[in-house]
Amino acid sequence: MFDRSEKGDRALLIQPELGNSLDNEDLAEFTELVTSAGVTVAGTITARRDRPDPAYLVGSGKVDEIAAALATNDANLVLFNHELSPVQERNLEKRLQCRVHDRTTLILDIFAQRAASHEGKLQVELAQLRHLATRLVRGWSHLERQKGGIGLRGPGETQLETDRRLLAERVKNLRRRLEKVDRQRHETRKNRHRDGTTVVSLVGYTNAGKSTLFNALTGSEAYAANQLFATLDPTVRSLTNGHGGPDIVLADTVGFIRHLPHELIAAFRATLQETRDADLLVHVIDAAADNREELVESVESVLADIEADEVPQLKVFNKIDQFGMPPKVDRDEQGRPVAVWVSALTGAGLDLLEEAIQARLHGSLVDDWFRLPPHAGRLRARLFKIGAVQEESIDDDGTMRLHLRLRQEQLDFLRHQSNGAELVREPGERSPVAAPEAHPYN
Ligand code: GTP
Repeated sequence: MFDRSEKGDRALLIQPELGNSLDNEDLAEFTELVTSAGVTVAGTITARRDRPDPAYLVGSGKVDEIAAALATNDANLVLFNHELSPVQERNLEKRLQCRVHDRTTLILDIFAQRAASHEGKLQVELAQLRHLATRLVRGWSHLERQKGGIGLRGPGETQLETDRRLLAERVKNLRRRLEKVDRQRHETRKNRHRDGTTVVSLVGYTNAGKSTLFNALTGSEAYAANQLFATLDPTVRSLTNGHGGPDIVLADTVGFIRHLPHELIAAFRATLQETRDADLLVHVIDAAADNREELVESVESVLADIEADEVPQLKVFNKIDQFGMPPKVDRDEQGRPVAVWVSALTGAGLDLLEEAIQARLHGSLVDDWFRLPPHAGRLRARLFKIGAVQEESIDDDGTMRLHLRLRQEQLDFLRHQSNGAELVREPGERSPVAAPEAHPYN
């Protein structure tokens, strides 16, 4: 999003500390974000002020200090760890004679670099355009190139009007394409629900170790790197299921970040929909992080923003290898697992985690014999497909007797979808097999 110079960017970071310290972002995290974007940090300047200056955010004297520091540090970019209004950005660029960007632009830039899927790319572009719409000060040469350039400008239009028109057209085009992708995604999700598949979604602050955990649990090679937002698009895989329960799909999601720019929350609503529709959220937390509680709170607040705070949650405290702690499970008064302490890197505690996931999902496990009439072959096939059938016997008249293990919601759903009368519980013929974990809530 911001033009990059040939020899790479060297940025001066400005850390505004305004009156209310709660509004101030963390400098260490910002430095990490900047490095993540592939930019070298040339220096940092802190700017304390009681209230923001409308023209420059920081004071005019501070702007002079920044100008001097740009020269001494051989920097070509200024990044503010704060929101800047379009006017402030423009004024600063004029005074400093170099590019000036705020935190939102930086985060959007990182998202743009990392988005891998078609939908991810479209969403990031839309978010960028919406952010830029308020900042139409520079030329829109890349938009002109896309349209071919010649005959572009209508009669009597100023450059700015042309830019606005191009921008509006591009936003409209992106919206249309995104709606199509969203419809397709909706279909996939509907199919999954139709199958009665259970969805477990991994959420967590960026860099908590979600991808590492995802790989360890599914045996797959999704991208894990010590970079913020290494994963931007939800990746979905089946969880190996050694517990004889129904099939589970595990979804990895984008890493959360404090004060996620509003453009991004809106743009990523569709991506995060997986999270809202999940049967269980596994909230991965970097147990070794100093500000652990703060990061947990910010994830909770994003979950509330996307209306996913009602979904049952299991906490995973990851990276216990960093302080030599053995794995363990925390339970509530009813014996229900609420947190598991693991190391995704060494694999310690992953067996406990899988058991805990199963135990949480099977809170309402149905484990019983059912009778199906001879003509219910399709329903039988579906039950096999979702891994719910434990045993089967067929009577002489073709009536099928199935020992099923599945969640109550799945059973209700299948009954709703098929003729309810096709799936009849067998009175008296109780399953000889015990539920996987005998907790009081089971
Ligand atoms: P985003 O994609 O930014 O959301 O990150 P993520 O939560 O998917 O984190 P990821 O799995 O990419 O891990 C981030 C870094 O933490 C990597 O360098 C991992 O190797 C490291 N890491 C993950 N799990 C552990 C762990 O259990 N112990 C230690 N020591 N490091 C870990």
